[in-house]
Amino acid sequence: MKKLWGGRFTGSAEDWVDEFGASIGFDQELAEQDIEGSIAHATMLAKCGVITQADAENIIQGLQKLKQQAANGELEYSAKLEDIHLNIEHHLTELIGPTGGKLHTARSRNDQVATDMHLYLKEQVSEIIELISEFQRTLVDQAGQNIETLMPGYTHLQRAQPISFAHHLMAYFWMLDRDKQRFMDSMKRINLSPLGAGALAGTTFPIDRHMTAEILGLEGIYENSLDAVSDRDFILEFLSDSSILMMHLSRLCEELILWSSQEFQFIELSDAFTTGSSIMPQKKNPDMAELIRGKTGRVYGSLMGLLTVLKGLPLAYNKDMQEDKEGMFDTVKTVKGSLKIFAGMVSEMKVKSEEMAQSVKKDFSNATELADYLAAKGVPFREAHEIVGKLVLECIQKGCYLADLPLEAYKSTNSLFEEDIFEALNPYNAVKRRNSAGGTGFSQVKLQIEKARTSL
Ligand code: ARG
Repeated sequence: MKKLWGGRFTGSAEDWVDEFGASIGFDQELAEQDIEGSIAHATMLAKCGVITQADAENIIQGLQKLKQQAANGELEYSAKLEDIHLNIEHHLTELIGPTGGKLHTARSRNDQVATDMHLYLKEQVSEIIELISEFQRTLVDQAGQNIETLMPGYTHLQRAQPISFAHHLMAYFWMLDRDKQRFMDSMKRINLSPLGAGALAGTTFPIDRHMTAEILGLEGIYENSLDAVSDRDFILEFLSDSSILMMHLSRLCEELILWSSQEFQFIELSDAFTTGSSIMPQKKNPDMAELIRGKTGRVYGSLMGLLTVLKGLPLAYNKDMQEDKEGMFDTVKTVKGSLKIFAGMVSEMKVKSEEMAQSVKKDFSNATELADYLAAKGVPFREAHEIVGKLVLECIQKGCYLADLPLEAYKSTNSLFEEDIFEALNPYNAVKRRNSAGGTGFSQVKLQIEKARTSL
């Protein structure tokens, strides 16, 4: 097969070398974007008088046909033709003859490939934004049903203070909200068109870059042709936004895994997102949560990979940059899959509110209530802390919890203790009373949920 750039060559590479250099194995994912970019380019070339209207129509008709064939999986790709751009151009020329060769006027694969990826990410990022919203909806729904579900809140994975389970879920809602904002903001930079930058220096033809940008639905153009073909920041940004998102998902994975263990027993994941063991009949493993936690690693890997690829590259295009694609495709697939799984997993999980409520009765997570109680009566908080610390110690020695101590035991440490300490020690009241802005108090959580719902 003749190389489309073969003019100055006398020898040729062996097949295995061609295969090593080819990207068609993965960049065929960009077929649709590549064809869209070409249609826009041909349209503009004709409008600017660079090619005739008749040639443009011929080219565009051919491209439309190829687009259909690509969508149906009917296009044959060859590693001999290196990448999606040369494969499509080859098919076009086969289809409409030498006129196909006019398409590449005032264009290079360098601005072409960058354009393809802008178009690709524009579509994918908007789908990801939608998937984040869907997952957020399931979080808000679960939260809405669990406002008064009590659970132990932790720091250092040690019982700290009782909280509302809804409050815990809503913490993830806001993380995802920031993730969404980040993806939305990145759209400004995804929405730029490199097309018409040529190989690196622009072109002598009287092209209109704004016209192609507009046809492609991109909001602006790169101001500098060298920058246009060298820039992969928008992919790095996508990978780093994805890494942060995956980190959030992975933290929730970890919690779901812990919560569904026999030790915690806070939730049960549905059969749809768990698996059994081939040997141990009793097992119900949180596989999907574990897998998402694991897949977070490959997304970070793609980010590190591309940062490393780019770090020493002189301007403008270098073949190294072909390495920008697989990590991007893989990340798109991983992020979308993880978000879909999560929406199902969280909406179907069974919350064991009884067990959770019981668990906060059998711990010292109400100790702060007691210290606050004395502090509210004028005892300096440090002193109150010390007194309650001693009471906790006494309980540990006796093998009971704070609510089990008689009032006399309290009075003997400080006369300000009254019968109403038992009200304060009740975990339900402990949660309910934490009504500072953004706190876990039920009315604050309700407010949060309302705000969240209106933000969706
Ligand atoms: N397959 C190449 C890539 O993905 C397309 C651009 C090639 N440009 C070039 N001058 N070799 O980066």
